Amino acid sequence: MKLPLNQILQGNSLEILKTLPDSSIDLIFADPPYFMRTEGSLLRPEGGEFSGCNDKWDSFASHDEYLHFTRAWLTECKRILKPNGSLWVIGSMQCIYAIGGVMQELGFWFINDVVWHKSNPTPNFLGTRLNNAHETLLWAAKDKKSKYTFHYKTAKELHSEIVGFEKGERRQLGSVWRLPVCSGGERLKNARGEKLHNTQKPESLLYRIIAISSNLGDVVLDPFGGTMTTAAVAKRLGRHYIMCEQNEEYVKFGRARLDSVVFEEGDIARASYDVKPIRVSLEELIASGFLHAGEKLYLKGSTLYARLLESGRLRLEGESVGVYMSGDFVRDLGNENETGIEGDIHSLAARLKGVKAKRLNGFLYWEVERDSKGRDRILLYDVREKYRQNLD
Ligand SMILES: C[S@@+](CC[C@H](N)C(=O)[O-])C[C@H]1O[C@@H](n2cnc3c(N)ncnc32)[C@H](O)[C@@H]1O
Repeated sequence: MKLPLNQILQGNSLEILKTLPDSSIDLIFADPPYFMRTEGSLLRPEGGEFSGCNDKWDSFASHDEYLHFTRAWLTECKRILKPNGSLWVIGSMQCIYAIGGVMQELGFWFINDVVWHKSNPTPNFLGTRLNNAHETLLWAAKDKKSKYTFHYKTAKELHSEIVGFEKGERRQLGSVWRLPVCSGGERLKNARGEKLHNTQKPESLLYRIIAISSNLGDVVLDPFGGTMTTAAVAKRLGRHYIMCEQNEEYVKFGRARLDSVVFEEGDIARASYDVKPIRVSLEELIASGFLHAGEKLYLKGSTLYARLLESGRLRLEGESVGVYMSGDFVRDLGNENETGIEGDIHSLAARLKGVKAKRLNGFLYWEVERDSKGRDRILLYDVREKYRQNLD
């Protein structure tokens, strides 16, 4: 069956999901009914009515009915997810524990729970409890064996609010995300100019999710589309979407919203930060003329040097032999042979630096002389980068 790519399917998602093939979806984001159990209307301190989430789509006769509903859509989601796909579900305290329980029953494998810390939450108007300032997201793989997508470095790049750099690198993205609720121009309005949907999610939230847990061209499905936030972000990031939504008005406004969205090509959409660089050997650098067999390689920040052999290995010369043989190393001369002390750039760097580790990243420790006068030294790391750029 051909997938209904880039479509909003209007109807009951419990029925729609059943029509989709097994193992066909890369990523699912679900923002299901919360089952808020609110009664009557909530008044703001000044007397105005607050429209939270008291919609018809959010009411269930009992907790058991909600559990039954949750089990039904999650079962279908598990079936249609690809083996290496993953699922995100967002919910509040009223529902997320029930949802999490069912996910575990069905064999989903939790990857993370993420707290969306709202930087501008709705106040607790009556002052009867703590201000509820977060929602929880559960991120799970189809099962324990799944090799789900996670763009670790892209996630670091998205770590915007604490721009902490350590040694030139961004910090890891943690599991508490402080982002504002959807407001202003992003909030969709109905024909009467009122808020179209009570629980429209901010694009910034979906942007993180889709960017870090899917790839360009992947299929992202949302069983509870609402205003189509998931589709809007999927389109911006160059992913396909499949959306389900039962409400005709939401579907109509959602379609109009998507018409104006365009693909924003860039490093985040492509997850370029996570593309593994091509492995390059010293032999390859010699064969391509970026290094020369017989030239000297210097240990960074010292006068110690070694001779580069055609094989890509090094032979220690001068003082470096003595340093290699000094101290504890004298008892362990595994690399010594009758032609002198030979080794690879990584283990020799570790030996000469006198560290406990058996290997260091030799590309960051050995330098070659490279300028017209043959004096200025550059790291093997930079030589390798030049070679890689040459390959592009
Ligand atoms: C919490 S809202 C999703 C909001 C959405 N994430 C957004 O950013 O606009 C849940 C949506 O699911 C829809 N819905 C509830 N039950 C449904 C069902 N069985 N089939 C299809 N849609 C359903 C509701 O109409 C509502 O728009």
